[in-house]
Amino acid sequence: MKIFVTRKIPEAGIKMLRQKGYEVEVSPYGRVLKAEEIIKMGKGSDALLCLLTDKITDKVMQGLGSQLKIIANYAVGFDNIDKDSAKKRKIMVSNTPGVLTETVAEHAVALIFAVARRIAESDRFVRAGKYKGWEPELLLGSDVGGKTLGVVGLGRIGRTVAERMKKGFGVKVLYYDKFRNEEAEKKLGIKYANLPSLLKASDFITIHVPLLSGTRHLINEKALKSMKKTAYLINTSRGPVVDEKALVQALKNNWIRGAGLDVFEEEPKLAPGLADLRNVTITPHTASATVEARSKMAELAAENIIAALSGKKPPSLIY
Ligand code: GLV
Ligand code: GLV
Repeated sequence: MKIFVTRKIPEAGIKMLRQKGYEVEVSPYGRVLKAEEIIKMGKGSDALLCLLTDKITDKVMQGLGSQLKIIANYAVGFDNIDKDSAKKRKIMVSNTPGVLTETVAEHAVALIFAVARRIAESDRFVRAGKYKGWEPELLLGSDVGGKTLGVVGLGRIGRTVAERMKKGFGVKVLYYDKFRNEEAEKKLGIKYANLPSLLKASDFITIHVPLLSGTRHLINEKALKSMKKTAYLINTSRGPVVDEKALVQALKNNWIRGAGLDVFEEEPKLAPGLADLRNVTITPHTASATVEARSKMAELAAENIIAALSGKKPPSLIY
């Protein structure tokens, strides 16, 4: 059995695959591959282990060959894979949920505090030699405790953020999801709100929905204008869920107070003007980037492949 891995990932996963006796080829380039390169190197593979930066189109699937049984995405999001083509070709697709839930939730929490307390901006201020001594009104931020947190998408990650923030910092939590979850409401003491009400009432809004046609630009100009002027927007899901150009306008014109972003519409590019704004904290799609999570993601991707190639159901089969 041949496995093609599109980029070096933590060794734990590769080791599991090699121990099964599979022939594992890892791209030696250490960069995002072009479609033709994936096809050329991966042709004849039984399994493809790919990243969220790889666009797995119908053409790529065709090029890899009809023996391909599984596409194991090294990510929880899987909007980079053409679902209809995989289904049509009867190729299994798996992702890496669960093992990065806490990690991504912690990053969302880190961004909430980073924007509220202007951490990145303060760091730049000090490094620029502007710190001349204590001042009563230097870099005033916003308290988090007692405020209202709006969680958009109550999946595993959204739920973990809600729980941590409520228990740890005493925020009130509103959530919006396609599905109301009364068990979570009772257990966590959180309240359901429709999206317009959540946007109006929240001081911090954190997004945890997958990118689907129905969630593209879920946060658009109208949504941004409906938020409190003192509100902060956090996005650790997928860039296109937010209209980034509209967000630049919102941050520039003080429709909202700030934003913490880990994902962007056209990564690695940022919308024009975004990086010039002082009231946005930017991280380079690193919400799941801990030694622990990335290693567990590699293992889970490998488990999915091993199951698929042994005629078993992959533990995190999506379709
Ligand atoms: C990261 O963005 C992931 O989907 O795992
Ligand atoms: C993804 O892991 C989610 O359910 O939030």
